[in-house]
Amino acid sequence: MSDAIHTAAEALRRGELVAFPTETVYGLGAHALDVDAVTKIFEAKGRPRFDPLIVHVPSVDAARALFAAPPAALDRLAEEFWPGPLTVVAKKVDAVPDLVTAGHDTVAVRVPAHPMAKALLEAVALPVAAPSANPFGAVSPTRAEHVVAQLGDRVSIVLDGGPCDVGVESTIVALEPTPTLLRPGGIALESLERVLGRVTLPDAAEYTTASPGRLSKHYATATPLYLDPAEAPEGGRRGLLAFEAPADGYEVVEVLSPAGDLAEAAQRLFAAMRRLDALDLDVIVAEPVPETGLGRAIMDRLRRAAAKRGP
Ligand code: TXA
Ligand code: MG
Repeated sequence: MSDAIHTAAEALRRGELVAFPTETVYGLGAHALDVDAVTKIFEAKGRPRFDPLIVHVPSVDAARALFAAPPAALDRLAEEFWPGPLTVVAKKVDAVPDLVTAGHDTVAVRVPAHPMAKALLEAVALPVAAPSANPFGAVSPTRAEHVVAQLGDRVSIVLDGGPCDVGVESTIVALEPTPTLLRPGGIALESLERVLGRVTLPDAAEYTTASPGRLSKHYATATPLYLDPAEAPEGGRRGLLAFEAPADGYEVVEVLSPAGDLAEAAQRLFAAMRRLDALDLDVIVAEPVPETGLGRAIMDRLRRAAAKRGP
């Protein structure tokens, strides 16, 4: 085990915060069974207490230990998607503090695939609660320097594992009473349905109760972002977040995937939003992408970034 991992695991055991890479985005981790440690996450992010956290573990067995009655589909899901960008929500055991689950009787659990996340979770040998390592409502970090820029004064250890491969957060699925998609993410709905059969998609209003914390306004750039150029104010300095190809009429264009590959576009999405946001533009226009595969997660993040107010 590297010194950095060892030091980070010790810090987590002492109740300190550690930012670490996962294959989706960087996480802001704390000992999940230590309420004082978990409190520090909410304080560092400015995150409301009604927004529950995802608990990260190194193995399927460790995940099973957090569920009161392991869901019937857990083994099949784990075999197909773990380690990887899937989070499973089901009834929790008492040991998981209410603060982690925002008072719900369910817990969200995932086994991340990033080698540094795996090494850290194995070394600490405790469940680690970790939201994305950004201030509440801001764009999620996909590189260590994004974490340092946004939360560097709040967290003493930031493990650098390079750019995140997936680039958008995990897909969240609740298994009881029937499979329900709580957040589109790094595992495509189509792949999930191959294992689970039909997965329900709650409508916007249901989302906020089924998946607390999913406020409309999220992933926000400081620069106003529009999905429909007709809604953007006229004139000014304009940037375009394009899917496959640039367009005229913009001072600067970020192309997410010249090959039209949705997984590549997802991987590059948040860093491209940050680059445009750093240019002091008046407006960012984001071009819609096809809503299949990872396109569903991309459009979810863009809609939230463009939302004017809470639901
Ligand atoms: O990819 C990811 O999932 C990243 C990395 C760090 O693992 N984490 C992440 O966490 O995106 P965060 O805090 O940004 O998103 C957590 C969301 C909550 O806002 C909520 O929607 C859902 O997970 N969630 C957590 N616990 C839940 C529960 N018991 N019931 C329903 N939804 C829950
Ligand atoms: Mg987040």
